[in-house]
Amino acid sequence: GTTLKAAAERSGRYFGAAMGRDRLNDQGFLTIANREFDMMTAVNEMKPDATEPSRGQFSFAAGDAIYNWAVQHGMRLRGHTLAWHAQQPRFWSSLSGSALRQAMIDHINGVMAHYKGKLAYWDVVNEAFAENGSRRNSNLQATGNDWIEAAFRAARAADPSVKLCYNDYNIENWTYAKTQGVYNMIRDFKSRGVPIDCVGLQTHFTGGSSLPGNFQTTLSSFAALGVDVALTEADVTNASASQYQGLTQACMNVPRCVGITTWGIRDSDSWRGSENPLLFDRNSNPKAAYSAVLNAL
Ligand code: XIL
Repeated sequence: GTTLKAAAERSGRYFGAAMGRDRLNDQGFLTIANREFDMMTAVNEMKPDATEPSRGQFSFAAGDAIYNWAVQHGMRLRGHTLAWHAQQPRFWSSLSGSALRQAMIDHINGVMAHYKGKLAYWDVVNEAFAENGSRRNSNLQATGNDWIEAAFRAARAADPSVKLCYNDYNIENWTYAKTQGVYNMIRDFKSRGVPIDCVGLQTHFTGGSSLPGNFQTTLSSFAALGVDVALTEADVTNASASQYQGLTQACMNVPRCVGITTWGIRDSDSWRGSENPLLFDRNSNPKAAYSAVLNAL
């Protein structure tokens, strides 16, 4: 039989997963990762608190361990993430205004210098919008509404080789206010020449939220702005095969949808483990959703 990565590669796409450093000691995980996936994201190890625990003191051991394993096994990597309201270094909380803005820029420069030329994508900014479509309140937002474009401009200068993405959740439904808020920002960035290459749709479908019928419209609408799109953290309550089939089909129908990443491999790897949201069960067996995805690729 074929594999997720082989099937995705037939159309020039990738199929990715997320892993934490602890999975480097988990032979069951590594076997499936190596067989099925050709893109990897670090679950926590490349986030701001992990990579710069105190000011100017960068820490790359955990991220590098994942990077090295993935590259040795022929995978590319998505960097996740440089600027976010959560999982910030503790020293950011004692900064504000131009000092915090400068700390963000210094962080982007420091981390991107280390990974320069090595990554396929960076989630430069993560989750900057509120559900109502306005900007999310955060210490970064309080530094000025231009903080997102400042992050992207710094990122482009730091490593022109990597594709720069904006990443968020609950932006899958085209008619949802948050989707429109992000869309308007991307449109504005493209019209003003702010460097941005891609939009990541996290694609966390929880109990109440299921695959919207207009998901493909969302993907094609973003793509029409001149950016790639990707499903970056997919997981679905109870791993509904029809929802996984639908999200895969939507990506396949949009030429600029470059790939799909699931947030873990087995249900036991998931941050939503009690919902059994992934493609493999706790015994490493593929679930019905696995076949649904494979057949749709
Ligand atoms: C999650 C990780 O899976 C957890 O281990 C951690 O405790 C919190 O963050 N959106 C994102 C990811 O962009 O970084 C989050 O990952 C899940 C939601």
